[in-house]
Amino acid sequence: MRIVVTGGAGFIGSALVRGLLGQAGAASVVVLDNLLTGKSENLDEVRSRIEFHDADIRDYAAVKGLLAGADLVYHLAAIPSVPRSISEPELTHQVNINGAFNVLLAAQRGGVRRVVYAASSSAYGDTPALPKVEEMTPTPKSPYAVQKLVGEHYARVFTEVYGLETVALRFFNVFGPRQDPSSPYSGVISVFMAALLDHRAPTIYGDGEQSRDFTYVDNIVELCLKAAQAPGASGRLYNGGVGARITLNEAWRTLQKIEGVEIPPLHGPPREGDVRHSQADISAARRDLGYRPAVDFEEGLRRTLEWFRQRKG
Ligand SMILES: NC(=O)c1ccc[n+]([C@@H]2O[C@H](COP(=O)([O-])OP(=O)(O)OC[C@H]3O[C@@H](n4cnc5c(N)ncnc54)[C@H](O)[C@@H]3O)[C@@H](O)[C@H]2O)c1
Repeated sequence: MRIVVTGGAGFIGSALVRGLLGQAGAASVVVLDNLLTGKSENLDEVRSRIEFHDADIRDYAAVKGLLAGADLVYHLAAIPSVPRSISEPELTHQVNINGAFNVLLAAQRGGVRRVVYAASSSAYGDTPALPKVEEMTPTPKSPYAVQKLVGEHYARVFTEVYGLETVALRFFNVFGPRQDPSSPYSGVISVFMAALLDHRAPTIYGDGEQSRDFTYVDNIVELCLKAAQAPGASGRLYNGGVGARITLNEAWRTLQKIEGVEIPPLHGPPREGDVRHSQADISAARRDLGYRPAVDFEEGLRRTLEWFRQRKG
């Protein structure tokens, strides 16, 4: 069994690689990543057990060579940032759309059984109805949201037209160990972690009452593993969240409580392209994939904080 993880040196991809290696059976795990936002060190303890290729999904020949004969592909490589897609629309288009197309085409031509595609909850846009169900009409608000949505459509079309099995998973806000806090595009929980350990105030964009379905990364790994196996899931789309909704202010309050500190946050202007509220309905994933998110928000925060603390030394 040969399994390829694109974006496997990234935050979610490197957790998925660990999940795959932890499964019974002798799968060979191949990582394809150009280390644009991912880091080689994310794979440190597992390096001897995987095959790593520094390759770019925009390079069809490279993708084709690595996917040929694989059983399963998890396509996570992307530039996953709303603000970056606004400042660099061409680059993000090329990676998130053309790259996804290359992966699907190479998978179909290379005889891959199934591709699991990392889609994004940003596809729902800022419509008031909550929680978000997969049947809602997508209303993307940023180039990133459009790009990830195009990948979903392509995945389904590859199933319907070419018979390649695909499953698209719309991840909601994922957090956990190895999420990079250091760039202006970083996920908010990782930014909070870095601030908390330095005992300094984080900057919250807007009033902090915007809410997200914050999902601990191991839940998403579980979802990916299940989506790769579930019979009858091909050609379908599933939400990946926990089904809850937490505001940024609440998240920062919970972290202060865990750490036993009181540090009021700073507030900056709202960020362009951000949606106000987000919450997943996960009943389809529960029903069809047997997905049960096992780690709740607070437990996820504790585990993540522990990881950041250890890394800081
Ligand atoms: N983190 C979230 O909350 C979230 C939410 C919704 C969807 N997603 C999706 O999940 C996936 C993983 O996101 P993440 O949070 O782990 O981000 P990440 O930036 O840590 O991982 C993305 C990986 O893709 C790699 N990559 C980027 N461009 C590439 C290219 N041209 N060729 C090869 N590799 C390339 C990066 O180096 C990185 O390792 C992405 O597809 C993202 O859109 C993430």
